[in-house]
Amino acid sequence: MFGLRSNLRVGLDIGSHSIKLAAVEKMGPRFRLVKWKCQELYTGGDRYDPEGPKKSVAVPGLMRMFNELQIMPKRIKRLASCIGGQLVSAKEISSVMQTEAEMASSLLLEARKHIPLDGSETVVDYQIMGDDVTDSDKVRVLLVATTRRNYETHQDFLREIELKPGIIDIEPLACLNSYIIHSQMPDEGVAIFLNIGARRTTLSVYGRRDSFFTRDLPIGGQAFTEELMHKYGISYEEAERVKREQGMEPDLERKGGNGESSLSLAEKSTFDRLGDEINRSLRFYVKETGQSVFTHFVLTGGGVLLPGLDTYLNNKFNLPIELYNPFNQLDSRVPIEAENPYQMAAAIGLAIRGDL
Ligand SMILES: Nc1ncnc2c1ncn2[C@@H]1O[C@H](COP(=O)(O)OP(=O)(O)OP(=O)(O)O)[C@@H](O)[C@H]1O
Ligand SMILES: [Mg+2]
Repeated sequence: MFGLRSNLRVGLDIGSHSIKLAAVEKMGPRFRLVKWKCQELYTGGDRYDPEGPKKSVAVPGLMRMFNELQIMPKRIKRLASCIGGQLVSAKEISSVMQTEAEMASSLLLEARKHIPLDGSETVVDYQIMGDDVTDSDKVRVLLVATTRRNYETHQDFLREIELKPGIIDIEPLACLNSYIIHSQMPDEGVAIFLNIGARRTTLSVYGRRDSFFTRDLPIGGQAFTEELMHKYGISYEEAERVKREQGMEPDLERKGGNGESSLSLAEKSTFDRLGDEINRSLRFYVKETGQSVFTHFVLTGGGVLLPGLDTYLNNKFNLPIELYNPFNQLDSRVPIEAENPYQMAAAIGLAIRGDL
């Protein structure tokens, strides 16, 4: 039924603004895109929920998406999905290579030392990132942890529509995996990855030689929408439209007349707040690692298409900016027409995971 073959690899990214799904088939060393969709969660006048979608929003959204794609959730055998946000922590360490069982037990203990979580029960996992070029006996291991509650809530969403939770990754790693599988990383220095979602921007730093670092910045596309709603007294839907079409300096009259209100003069723009947050994280990274050679920015996430964003970042940090289109590395029988391909980076990264 529905012609779904079980060798499909499905990547699913449930964001606070939209749900993204990519289904691929492995064809030798490459992947062929079979189906994909990006679906907004709040289109029917419901209010955007910065906490992330409630079950009552996420579950019908997921069901609609699977129906439209004509995929039966319970027939999917290879599923990878992701979680993100403040409740997720990651830390890279260097460790001697061990068997899988040894690795699991010793690293899980290690993780408790390195990963600051609020003391509630945690779920810990790890991923080998490659050889440690500074010590040939060791490998780079990324420890990740989240609260059990966060993990189980995510699994609950999936089970509710009869999806069998498979691999669960963290969002920054899903975006990074999507990029590094086919793109060359420079030998020296590190690249800065920004995944600009709705409620947050996830900044990650990665290079061949230096530690992976990731941090959530509490400013994403929604903060830009809210700035427009405030300044111009327009609704969420209107502000979303204006933002995409005109950016942050639209041809609209400001709320309260022509003069700038004292409030908006005193407030920093969302661009500047985001820029400051990025700056602070990079300074922290330099202090922790001693590495200060940043090669370029790689941008993913729905917010990347905000008019003026790339110019702002380029002016502030004076680094090249790459908008990463994850579809470019996939084969497809039909031309891929995506309005905002950058939004699909995590879902595609999940679908093409080597071990899925
Ligand atoms: N063409 C566009 N121009 C500007 N902004 C856009 C455009 N398309 C989408 N966005 C913005 O991108 C954001 C959604 O991106 P994305 O789907 O990556 O977020 P999400 O994964 O749902 O959120 P999060 O990960 O923060 O929970 C929204 O704020 C939306 O307004
Ligand atoms: Mg997201």
